[in-house]
Amino acid sequence: MELHEAFVGKNLHDISVPAAVVDRAVVRRNCLQMLQACDALDVDFRPHVKTHKTIEVARLQVGEPWRHTVKLVVSTLAEAEHLLPFLLECQDHGKSVNVLYGLPIPPSTVRRLAEFGKRLLPGSLSVDTGYHRAGVTPSSAEFLNLVTRILDGGKKSMSIEFGGLYSHAGHSYGGSSASQAMNLLIEEIESLRKASEIVKNLHPKIAHKQLTLSVGATPTATSVQNLLELSDGPQAPGVKQSDALKDCIHQAKANHDRVELHAGVYPFLDMQQLATQASPSASQPSTGPGLSFGDVAFTILTEVASLYSEREQPEALIAAGSLALGREPCKSYSGWGIVSNWGFDSTIPTGRSGWQVGRISQEHGILTHESSKHGDTRELCVGQKVRMFPNHACVAGAAFDYYLVVDSSLPEKRHDEILEVWKEDQVMVSVRTADRRDEEQSRAPLLATPTLESIVSSFPSTSHPPDTMSSQHNIQNSDQADHNIAAVAQEKN
Ligand SMILES: Cc1ncc(COP(=O)(O)O)c(C=O)c1O
Repeated sequence: MELHEAFVGKNLHDISVPAAVVDRAVVRRNCLQMLQACDALDVDFRPHVKTHKTIEVARLQVGEPWRHTVKLVVSTLAEAEHLLPFLLECQDHGKSVNVLYGLPIPPSTVRRLAEFGKRLLPGSLSVDTGYHRAGVTPSSAEFLNLVTRILDGGKKSMSIEFGGLYSHAGHSYGGSSASQAMNLLIEEIESLRKASEIVKNLHPKIAHKQLTLSVGATPTATSVQNLLELSDGPQAPGVKQSDALKDCIHQAKANHDRVELHAGVYPFLDMQQLATQASPSASQPSTGPGLSFGDVAFTILTEVASLYSEREQPEALIAAGSLALGREPCKSYSGWGIVSNWGFDSTIPTGRSGWQVGRISQEHGILTHESSKHGDTRELCVGQKVRMFPNHACVAGAAFDYYLVVDSSLPEKRHDEILEVWKEDQVMVSVRTADRRDEEQSRAPLLATPTLESIVSSFPSTSHPPDTMSSQHNIQNSDQADHNIAAVAQEKN
């Protein structure tokens, strides 16, 4: 309420900075485009909430009307707990809710994880399909060993059942075209499909079980948007490639499996995603394949604090450094953020101003000229507000406690009006369990769960009975191999 009063109705030019700004219309469009593409391909979709951590964006990611099962990935338990009111609301609308904890289970989080879902359901195995961050390679002895242990463990009433396979295509950030991204997606599905065959051959018990094969990362998942309207150009996926994709999805189905795409940063987008050129531009569809600045929903607002015209090339200082922008590199240029054309010749950030954040320290950013190939550099003056595209929205977003929401679909004179404030509450969530009639349990204040490097994940299947303490016990006593299994907290009606 305080935030609402402090910001709503104000103009972006009149607030103190740095601040995180989100264009609601662009987020909506990005979310819708992803759901439509999954619908067209007949695959499931599981959005990750780590970029924004807010109920407002999760709602758009899940879409309306909600599908029967609302699936999400979280990277911290705080994210999951914050989303609880939304998850319960989904249940009130008759949906199943299925939250995947996308990390190898750190033993210390098991109790909290179990409390969140009041049950641990069938786990999924994290498969390494090329990113080499987490997961096991399907061709390795470790994979067979792990699968055998899970399946045998199941016999001994270990509470993890085989729910599916999960891989994260982080290496797709290195690509530069839609067709590269789609090739990686096809490889990823193929890899999980073969891994599923290995699993099913190992154990007759699950030979006919439907496993979920979850694949993705924003470049690969959003590359399927190109199929909605086959974009042309040498870099775009062609009919042959789209047939290959459909074919491997079909083969997974023939093997009784279900393909699911997952992605996280796609509602916001950023410089790294622009550099991958993996999906078509929704803001400027006529420009052919590849995202454009108008597709980026997330910008950092700051202001020019000083100008240095005496330097070899003019520079300027802004009141935002690595704490606001992050220190994530982008392969398409050497800076830490691009200053948009907002406030120069546009009321919406749709292009470049000629300035980039060339150097950065904690609270200072130095604006330098971008390469002259991008056109003229605009004049800056002290006190001028600028909006910048960060390299990686997940890290930049995490620096802010809330987002100031604007809407570029409104008439131009309202483009800078703050309409809403979206916030992730990180403390004191009231945890209600699967049985909502239980008394609400208050929680001790929650600190943000530390981010772990390696990620595994998990999977659920909506049709399994709850497992409770035994799974906690087994997981807590697990060795490293079991860290390739993660749990899913699932709330059911
Ligand atoms: C395990 C896992 N799954 C999904 C995602 C979403 O990836 P992206 O933000 O590229 O869509 C991430 C992001 O880091 C992740 O770590």
